[in-house]
Amino acid sequence: MYRHLLGRRKCLYSALIALACFSDNAAAIWPFPPKRFSGNSLVDAGSMGINVQGRVIAFGDFNGDQYLDALALGSDQQTMTVYLWNHDDFIFQPSATFTHPHKILNVVPGDFTHSGKLDLLVMAQSSTNNQLDLSVYTALPGGGFDTSTPLSVPASALPQPIPIDIDGDMKIDLLGMAPDSSLQVWQNVFNASEPLSPLFAVGDPPFKGTQCTLANPHSNAVVDFDGDCLADVFLLCNDGSYQIWVNNKSDGFSLSLHGSMPSGVQSVSFADVDRDGTIDMVFITCSSVSTSTGIGTDCAINIAYNKQLPLCTTPADSGLKKGVRTCRPPEDLCTADPAFTFDLTNSPNNQAFVALPISTLFPGSSLVVLDIMPVLSLPVSLKLGDANLDGFPDILLIISTGQDRVPKVLFSVPCGPGVFGCVSGHGKHGWSVATKGTETLDAIKDARSVSFLDIDEDGSLDIMVQRIGTLGQNNIQFVQNNFYFDAFFLKAIVLNGACGNGWCYGPNGTEKYHPFGVSYSGASYKYTVLDTTGSRSAAQIGQLPQTSYQALQTPYSFFGLGRTNNYIENLFVGSTMHTAQHYINIEGVIPNSKLVILPPSTPGDAWKRELFLRPGEWIPWVTLTVVVATIILAIIVLVLHLNEKMITATHLRSRLLQLDAQIVEQRRLLNELQQTRSDVERELHATATFPVLTLPPEITTEIFIHLRELSPSCIPGQNLPPVVLASVCRQWRDIALATPILWSELEVHFDYIARTLISESGLVEGRVDQWLARSGNRPLLSETGYLATLRVFHIS
Ligand SMILES: *[C@@H]1O[C@H](CO)[C@@H](O)[C@H](O)[C@H]1NC(C)=O
Ligand SMILES: *[C@@H]1O[C@H](CO)[C@@H](O)[C@H](O)[C@H]1NC(C)=O
Ligand SMILES: *[C@@H]1O[C@H](CO)[C@@H](O)[C@H](O)[C@H]1NC(C)=O
Repeated sequence: MYRHLLGRRKCLYSALIALACFSDNAAAIWPFPPKRFSGNSLVDAGSMGINVQGRVIAFGDFNGDQYLDALALGSDQQTMTVYLWNHDDFIFQPSATFTHPHKILNVVPGDFTHSGKLDLLVMAQSSTNNQLDLSVYTALPGGGFDTSTPLSVPASALPQPIPIDIDGDMKIDLLGMAPDSSLQVWQNVFNASEPLSPLFAVGDPPFKGTQCTLANPHSNAVVDFDGDCLADVFLLCNDGSYQIWVNNKSDGFSLSLHGSMPSGVQSVSFADVDRDGTIDMVFITCSSVSTSTGIGTDCAINIAYNKQLPLCTTPADSGLKKGVRTCRPPEDLCTADPAFTFDLTNSPNNQAFVALPISTLFPGSSLVVLDIMPVLSLPVSLKLGDANLDGFPDILLIISTGQDRVPKVLFSVPCGPGVFGCVSGHGKHGWSVATKGTETLDAIKDARSVSFLDIDEDGSLDIMVQRIGTLGQNNIQFVQNNFYFDAFFLKAIVLNGACGNGWCYGPNGTEKYHPFGVSYSGASYKYTVLDTTGSRSAAQIGQLPQTSYQALQTPYSFFGLGRTNNYIENLFVGSTMHTAQHYINIEGVIPNSKLVILPPSTPGDAWKRELFLRPGEWIPWVTLTVVVATIILAIIVLVLHLNEKMITATHLRSRLLQLDAQIVEQRRLLNELQQTRSDVERELHATATFPVLTLPPEITTEIFIHLRELSPSCIPGQNLPPVVLASVCRQWRDIALATPILWSELEVHFDYIARTLISESGLVEGRVDQWLARSGNRPLLSETGYLATLRVFHIS
């Protein structure tokens, strides 16, 4: 009994061990690594390799591998380190490090030399302290930067210049202020073939109108305001006003909109907040800001909606009424609306403006507005990004409660109870503070700056928090957005047309690379999608609109698409080229992918685009599955094909046999028919006679005799009547020969006897004898009518 139980238990154990072995094996076969992050929440991802005592100052794809890299600035504010993303190890790895001779205030990565690689524009404190020294470190083809001979650039006044393509050649120019406080353009005149080519030539901007003095810090942006997919310019002036300069291509920029910002304005950000296909303004106002802590009092988040032509609601609508445009059809999104406007008055009657006091969103807290640093205080702007992929940008900010500085996310959500900032008519969306799954953010008490980025390009908008680090923590903390959203995304990047959109080559031809990292400010995207209820909406997004004061925007644009019907109907991509068609319409773009758009490098050439499906571990396995499935299908098709061939051969053989049998049968029938026919014929011959032959011979004889009497006398050369009668048929011949009277008359015209007959001796005599014999020796009737016996004369 015990043994039995023991045996059973042994058996159970071995089964369990086998199962365990099997599951081990199964884990070994299972090709996917275990999930890096788990939980439907924001997950602490640590410093990801950026263990710098300092801060991340810019993002860019420095090695063109389509993964976002970071540029860090050491705590000395002079040492820059490029951290390249290593996808396999899921970590940033330090690459080039070099030290700038002065304290750095901002770095703008950009392809200033149009070489297909990102160079670095470094803005540094000058020794005179009232201007910015600018220098450009050019990228080396093999990686890294030419640190020994940076290109020097004419200096700027303290408001940081912004990169912009001002002349439509897709090369980065700068717009800012000259040290003498007038607006100035640094026009890109770089010529790589000339060894000592200057990078920029300074000049007056092509701005027709009264220009203002820039604020410092400012929120200048290069983004499309009038909806023509061509980037315009937003300037924040030091008198608290703003200017919007509309891009009119080679006719320069014209001042389209200007006015005062609400008092206490801080930083301004731009995004299509209500998803109506126009770029709106989101800005902070505070009644005052502490210069020691950077914390504002009575702050509010303000949203000014861009009032512009709406999207046409019915597909049949051409958007034109009596020649006046009333709406934009989905397939013609890039039409300018010169009458676009912002209304910045904060009144209940103004439906195009929303003010959200921080005290209602976060009772007892205030907003962190400035990041106070020894050399420069950086504005902490509101970061806009679609963290929940619903197509509506969300807001990332830092609030201050007591001594704590905590990053917070405001989700843009449909209006309802507890949702702030709902105004009628604007997308019916308001704001709600994210609380679920945000423990990681809430645990951070020393945030100084926040930004959205997509770690490892996996299609979720993650967060980078820069921390003060007073308690010895890392300065950089990444937070993985591990929420599961049932929605799509798209990433897009417009390149600058370097290297003719093909391969780039280093100076000695050995280096070969794709210009995949060279994003630039000013490209814009507009798209329409159908949601699951079938209603169409348009949205707009700008590429890298702001770069000043360490804005930390990503070089690509990231759009959440919400729950859409499979694909983006129309994606309009605008460049800054001054050609008649500065944009293209791409139809049917597959979401959850990255789109690289290469505008023509020379005007008139074709646009190119490359679609990269979301890179992930699954892709090789999906490919493998597709290949295997294809092979299986091919085998099935082959088997069916061979089978069909075999069936055909068998079928043909049996058909041949059938035909052979039919031929034999038909032959037999033919023979039978022939037999029957000859039988019938024979019978016919045996039975059927001509009616005239049925007469009794006496009657025929009598007729013959009468015929003799009727018949005309002999015609020379023709047979005599009895001869004719005797040669019709056997019966008549018998009758004629047996009727001597027929033969009882003979006319012989000796003078007519043919010579041939005469020449043969005895022939005529023989004929006459035969005649006479037939007459049965009856008396011959003479010509004259009386009977006589013909005497035959010998004719010689
Ligand atoms: C660049 O420099 C080379 C050599 O000096 C010259 O031939 C070429 O025309 C220049 N290109 C432009 C666009 O100015
Ligand atoms: C843009 O240029 C065109 C042609 O010169 C001109 O007709 C138009 O008025 C300009 N637009 C603006 C907004 O200045
Ligand atoms: C080509 O240039 C690269 C980088 O500048 C350098 O490392 C390499 O040695 C050069 N090759 C030749 C053959 O000059």
